[in-house]
Amino acid sequence: MKLTIIGTGYVGLPTGVGFAELGNEVVCVDKIAAKIDKLNRGELTLFEDGLDELFRKNVEKGSIRFTLDMENAVKGADVVMLAVGTPPHPVTKEADLQYIYAAAEELAQYLDGYTVVATKSTVPVGTGDEVEAIIRKTNPIADFDVVSLPEFLREGFAIHDFFNPDRIVIGANSEKARSVMLKLYEPFKEKSEFLMVKRRSSETIKYASNAFLAMKIHYINEMADFCEQAGADILEVAKGMGMDSRIGKKFLNPGPGYGGSCFPKDTNAMAQMGKKYGANLNLIETTIAKNDERKAKMGQRVIEAIKNHPEGKIAVLGLAFKGGTDDCRESPAVDIVKEMIKHSDNICAYDPKAIENAKLILGDSIKYANSIEEACKDADVMVVLTEWEDFRNINLAEIKKIMSKAKIIDLRNMLNAEDAKVNGFEYQCIGAKYSA
Ligand SMILES: NC(=O)c1ccc[n+]([C@@H]2O[C@H](COP(=O)([O-])OP(=O)(O)OC[C@H]3O[C@@H](n4cnc5c(N)ncnc54)[C@H](O)[C@@H]3O)[C@@H](O)[C@H]2O)c1
Repeated sequence: MKLTIIGTGYVGLPTGVGFAELGNEVVCVDKIAAKIDKLNRGELTLFEDGLDELFRKNVEKGSIRFTLDMENAVKGADVVMLAVGTPPHPVTKEADLQYIYAAAEELAQYLDGYTVVATKSTVPVGTGDEVEAIIRKTNPIADFDVVSLPEFLREGFAIHDFFNPDRIVIGANSEKARSVMLKLYEPFKEKSEFLMVKRRSSETIKYASNAFLAMKIHYINEMADFCEQAGADILEVAKGMGMDSRIGKKFLNPGPGYGGSCFPKDTNAMAQMGKKYGANLNLIETTIAKNDERKAKMGQRVIEAIKNHPEGKIAVLGLAFKGGTDDCRESPAVDIVKEMIKHSDNICAYDPKAIENAKLILGDSIKYANSIEEACKDADVMVVLTEWEDFRNINLAEIKKIMSKAKIIDLRNMLNAEDAKVNGFEYQCIGAKYSA
């Protein structure tokens, strides 16, 4: 099928590459010239495990191309997917739909023949109606349907998740649109669950899912605080909870609060939708407020730990909002480093993939290292802020030899507490108390 994807970011690019790999003819369009130029030079604009190889392969085959030209991209497409950003409005915290509306107006001019416009971006309930109205107003003779196609991929696993989605939710109000979407998703028929629902239900499923996951993270963080006071160990508690199939093992890792480009904005947007429709969403509202509090509290915990080292070097491990990505949007690690800067001008950070993006926010207020060892060399304190798997395997005996003092603050519970203790570190983690 001929597929156009508008917005070549963390969703649009892996999705475009994935559909190209499945034999579709894909055009990705963006409005940022530097992005399109880079992609046309054969260079990726973001990090996703496994993306590089598939990208090269499909560019070489000619099954995917990149352009700034909306007309060229949209004409003749069977499906046009909207994958533009829906960031939080700085004042109202609602999803800012300006990019969706602008893209809808632009694409509408070039629709020819029956086309399904599928919204992959996360958009508030009712946005499909708005998009439909904009297209109809801009191009009254266009033959089209607007479908909600929420995206559930996880950054860091985007390629894996593209090919192995748990579910494919299609919110379509017309049979014709439904059959086009089923044809596009035919290769997933055997391995994924399909759910055909009303467009408004589909739009709600995405927010309801993200808000639920954010609440789950908040819940385990609350339990971690409880464990610290009660002398229990959150890792043991989470393990025991996760063995219950009704609860599940995932999203039970305590940390410094959720962040990233989705959970903060989607929980806020959901809370605003609750207000708009007069529905009480207390649980979500509490989660938002308590998560903000937690990030500040965790920042304070780190400050307490480093304040006795005013001159000493502080090694920060991790800047991305989570492991497996170079994305630093709303990263708790970056927020905590911003607090740390107020108390230390000797911070050196390492992240396997996110340094370039972190530099755009933190600039030269800290130093950056090319390895764990470089960050930790002569450091008084090691602060672990992102759950990169590499950090789990740090050889503490060796690291101790190059650090000047033996102190670790592990806000992701990545290191082994016993190992830290055996190697003589003063070790603080989340949800349990250890004394050296
Ligand atoms: N990042 C994720 O893990 C994830 C997961 C599920 C859903 N989502 C949702 O998907 C959407 C996209 O998220 P993202 O992280 O890929 O955003 P992103 O910021 O990485 O990418 C969006 C892209 O859209 C482009 N764009 C904006 N307006 C445009 C226009 N009129 N024409 C062409 N291009 C335009 C931007 O230049 C940018 O490159 C959001 O609604 C987000 O909530 C994201």
